[in-house]
Amino acid sequence: MAEQKRADKDRKIRSYIYDKLTIDTLGKMIDKKCINEVMGIIKSGKESKIVLGKDLNGNTVIIKIYMIATSSFTNMMQYIQGDNRFVKIGKTKRKIVETWCQKEMRNLEKAHSVGLSVPKTRCVRNNVLIMDMIEDGGQIANQLSKTILEDPTVFFNEVKEMMRILFKDADLVHADLSQYNILVRDEKPVFIDMGQSVLKNHPQVKTFLKRDVKNIVKYFNSLGVETNETDLYEFIIAD
Ligand SMILES: Nc1ncnc2c1ncn2[C@@H]1O[C@H](COP(=O)(O)OP(=O)(O)OP(=O)(O)O)[C@@H](O)[C@H]1O
Ligand SMILES: [Mg+2]
Repeated sequence: MAEQKRADKDRKIRSYIYDKLTIDTLGKMIDKKCINEVMGIIKSGKESKIVLGKDLNGNTVIIKIYMIATSSFTNMMQYIQGDNRFVKIGKTKRKIVETWCQKEMRNLEKAHSVGLSVPKTRCVRNNVLIMDMIEDGGQIANQLSKTILEDPTVFFNEVKEMMRILFKDADLVHADLSQYNILVRDEKPVFIDMGQSVLKNHPQVKTFLKRDVKNIVKYFNSLGVETNETDLYEFIIAD
């Protein structure tokens, strides 16, 4: 009985995640040999689902599927408008989500190109982005929020340095940085979830950077790290 219930639930979840467009897209990605297999869903947010997959070599990859039906377009547009990399955006919900997905890939690539620790992207198509899975000790890495750090001050200093490099060298502000979008690998931070990240010349860049700073300071203060918003902000933008 319990098994039947579980099977019904699984079927429901599958039909919800894998709408027709997503099924076709995943099929094309398999044809193009970007992935070899789609496995189970591991995280389910309002705007995206995180699914595990395998590449041709049997490595586990992360399949991030942006949900067309439940994404917030008004919110997305706030981070897309003013970005000169995406001037011509379609007006349909689908086009906006697809732009968002492209934007996450471009942002991750930009961060990666300046040597920051972020997942390496593999391919993008429509509303689906494939990237390397961040592992820690042979398992999928934990969010910072779920990790007990050996030395929070050392970790904070790494985060601080990464925020500065992101701003100075990649010309980006994460814009949703918190203990939930930082993973821990070998006691070091890995930034993830960069769809909303904006270029330095975005009209609201200051507001977004200040919000990131506020979240990070609040979290590390709660772990006993001595820092404050002004110091961190000044450190990031200083010449
Ligand atoms: N490359 C990755 N390697 C390992 N885990 C990942 C990776 N990408 C995402 N995850 C896991 O999936 C979670 C959700 O991913 P992400 O933050 O990119 O999506 P999201 O749209 O913000 O979802 P949510 O609303 O749940 O935060 C992450 O917090 C992390 O635990
Ligand atoms: Mg997230």
